[in-house]
Amino acid sequence: MKTTFLLNGETVTAETPPTATLLDWLRLNQHLTGTKEGCNEGDCGACTVMVQDENGPRALNACILFMPQIAGKAVRTVEGIRANDGALHPVQQAMVDHHGSQCGFCTPGFIASMATAHATGATDFDDRLAGNLCRCTGYAPIIRAAEAAVDAPVPDWVGVDRAALAALPSDPELPRSSDELAAILTAAPDTRIIAGGTDVGLWVTKQMRDLGPVVFLHACKDLQQITVTDTDMHVGAGVTVETLREAIAPHYPSFAEMLRRYGSTQVRSAATIGGNIANGSPIGDSPPALIALGTQLHLRQGDTRRTIALEDFFIDYGKQDRQLGEFVEGITLPLGAPDLKVYKISKRFDQDISALCGAFNITVQEGVVASARIAFGGMAGIPKRASTVEKALIGQPWTMDTITVARDAWAQDFTPLSDMRASADYRLEVARNLLTRYYAETQGTPTTVLEVEL
Ligand SMILES: Cc1cc2nc3c(=O)[nH]c(=O)nc-3n(C[C@H](O)[C@H](O)[C@H](O)COP(=O)(O)OP(=O)(O)OC[C@H]3O[C@@H](n4cnc5c(N)ncnc54)[C@H](O)[C@@H]3O)c2cc1C
Ligand code: FES
Ligand code: FES
Repeated sequence: MKTTFLLNGETVTAETPPTATLLDWLRLNQHLTGTKEGCNEGDCGACTVMVQDENGPRALNACILFMPQIAGKAVRTVEGIRANDGALHPVQQAMVDHHGSQCGFCTPGFIASMATAHATGATDFDDRLAGNLCRCTGYAPIIRAAEAAVDAPVPDWVGVDRAALAALPSDPELPRSSDELAAILTAAPDTRIIAGGTDVGLWVTKQMRDLGPVVFLHACKDLQQITVTDTDMHVGAGVTVETLREAIAPHYPSFAEMLRRYGSTQVRSAATIGGNIANGSPIGDSPPALIALGTQLHLRQGDTRRTIALEDFFIDYGKQDRQLGEFVEGITLPLGAPDLKVYKISKRFDQDISALCGAFNITVQEGVVASARIAFGGMAGIPKRASTVEKALIGQPWTMDTITVARDAWAQDFTPLSDMRASADYRLEVARNLLTRYYAETQGTPTTVLEVEL
């Protein structure tokens, strides 16, 4: 497959299998070995590159980025990140000045993330760099370096790359709309869809799987739309988790705050909401909140469309209500649930998979529980509602006595597993405690999350 894109300012055309990764191509084909391979699974950030499209620059992990995903985009590796006069980029100079590098293996990835943050004006460096691991220097000098470069001018090549995108040819092999995607899947229903590739990438890099025929959906612009009405938000399947996080923040700050801890900047900037649902994972972080909100899922097979409640999509572990050749077109989530709270419990605060993730959407009228939707991931083989707990709450006074009674109902809803992330007993006890926490928060009792300062 041919992929035309800008590499460090030059137009290049690469001919590779569709599941060749950008990292392999850079290192093995171009000998651009500044971009490092650490984990090869999206966790360490050593392979971070800056990728620019019409929406601006993003930091992405090259190890789980397939070549067709960069068609028509501008890629900057550490070799192409410089100041205007060819001297060190302001973030590179700041890393030198602030002693931000020791062994240096992580440094090119940090530079790509820092230069991207610098180009976009982002200053939330703890979040921007949570996907870059460093095991020698420690984060304090690196964060100091990022802060020191904030006011330096953005190099001209950022704008030049962006302006040059328009001249790149569009890739004829990629579907450009959901209609084209539907037609491809109708003709060959067992074609594997690749959206952000943050799951599928690992099947290739870690499991060495041959994926057979694949189709990429990142060029389908109509799947990347978010539409907001007075009552609902419609989100296309191709919307990234990072874009969703920004869009829901004004409506559901707790949901947005949980998504801040979804993977890393690099993962959120690639992963799509459609992929997070379609993979059917019992520990996917978006389904609990979406189910608690009463989200509708839109599926499409050829010209036939259907809409189901999201919770009905998850049938059993590894089994979803999706036919061969059918794809997720989008979701519609209701707006106007001001008391929605979402809690992610994981061993590490940043960039970790949930042991459990719970969402509570409870309305209280005149002191009595009028409605309750509670959904959890990590407690069963699928993301699942706590129906018995909900029943124990509805119609009852919103008091600690009611919470105490409802705590006993959890074991009827869930029989969680023990695994490396948490024991079954721990999961049940934490779920109970999260209900108590939710109650405390609705009573104005402050609760704190411990973040360890480095
Ligand atoms: C380092 C790292 C950290 C992660 N952290 C988290 C985390 O904190 N929380 C979390 O929930 N997940 C996490 N993940 C998992 C992953 O990011 C998510 O599951 C992600 O949402 C998948 O979306 P994607 O677009 O990358 O899907 P892809 O990898 O492209 O696809 C995933 C699956 O969905 C199918 N698919 C994709 N789009 C559609 C569609 N529109 N219709 C039908 N099928 C489709 C694909 O065929 C495939 O089976 C992490 C992954 C990595 C690598
Ligand atoms: S090599 Fe670790 S994230 Fe890519
Ligand atoms: S400087 Fe060695 S891992 Fe960061």
